[in-house]
Amino acid sequence: MPTGSRYTGLIEHYRDRLPVSDSTRIISLGEGNTPLIRLENIPHETGREVEIYVKYEGLNPTGSFKDRGMSMAVTRAVEEGSRAVLCASTGNTSASAAAYAARAGITAFVIIPEGKIALGKLAQAMIHGAVVIQIRGNFDDGMRLVKEVADHAPVTIVNSINPYRLQGQKTAAFEIVDALGRAPDYHCLPVGNAGNITAHWIGYCEYSHQGDGRVTAACKYCAGECRYAGRGVTGTRPVMVGYQASGSAPFLRGEMVDHPETVATAIRIGHPQSWDSAWKVKEESGGWFDECSDAEILAAQKLLTSREGIFCEPASAISVAGALRDIRSGRIPEGSCVVCTLTGHGLKDPDTAIRQCEGGMLTVDATLDAVKRAILDSMAP
Ligand code: F0G
Repeated sequence: MPTGSRYTGLIEHYRDRLPVSDSTRIISLGEGNTPLIRLENIPHETGREVEIYVKYEGLNPTGSFKDRGMSMAVTRAVEEGSRAVLCASTGNTSASAAAYAARAGITAFVIIPEGKIALGKLAQAMIHGAVVIQIRGNFDDGMRLVKEVADHAPVTIVNSINPYRLQGQKTAAFEIVDALGRAPDYHCLPVGNAGNITAHWIGYCEYSHQGDGRVTAACKYCAGECRYAGRGVTGTRPVMVGYQASGSAPFLRGEMVDHPETVATAIRIGHPQSWDSAWKVKEESGGWFDECSDAEILAAQKLLTSREGIFCEPASAISVAGALRDIRSGRIPEGSCVVCTLTGHGLKDPDTAIRQCEGGMLTVDATLDAVKRAILDSMAP
């Protein structure tokens, strides 16, 4: 075996903070260790002094943050003898479940809403060999069916109601603190099922235990049951801010939404599974929920691609859309260090990207003259 320092995934990296033992067979595709990129151009446009970083989770193996939780959930499913995993999905969870099941040599069953899955995600689930079940319904219908059918079939649910998913996903918070040397002041992220905001808070809480063995006074989340006391890395935790698309914003409405709609299909969810825990995160962190329109979401996606060279899917861009609005209004004060999670890669949803760029392509004859004219005309002031 070579003896270099090859990165082998988040379970190996953070294994002393994750529920695995020495004999656990780890199912990994090298997930985690994603870049925390400082935005260089966009912050100037706000007219405010802020540091904004994006955690580019689209660079995980299947192109979304789901791989963090899936590595952990499939590892434990295999350890417990499961031969099949099952999830409902708006797309990314199904892509991730399909890939990790393939890696593990087990079967993935994925339930998706017909016609509401971005093309890249559907391609992933299919090519990895998942059994893809389209339903004439939405994600929330799929989630209900997953819970019902799991009682009748020998399958492990790998939606974020599986606690191992959140254990894997909490490592994103560890990486941010490790990279910055401190917790950010604000952490902004999209909220759909609300598993990810919950997982980040678990991570920040575990990392904020005092080095002397005391749990920080503010840390109520895991008080009494946490095995990380005395292993703190930082004394602070961020304010957590969750953004939802206006057409599917149950946390803004204060109640479940029956017919969610948004261009950001990943977060087209009206009945979030982690409802109670997300409210708890908001309360404990002193944070808030807010909503963005589809137009704001798409504008932020375009801004990131055109001004920073970073391509994320629409659902991810909502974290930047909302953060910029809150920075401009002063709700996020000047001098803050802000992290926005870009949950999925832009290539997941090529249709929406291309639709945003009507007229962005020139078609000319294959001659020097025609190409030269196209270039010079485009450069004309
Ligand atoms: N961003 C993307 C790209 C997602 O795919 C999801 C959720 C979220 C944000 C919201 O995260 O649910 O933890 O609040 N996608 C799930 C799926 C529902 O099936 O792929 P959350």
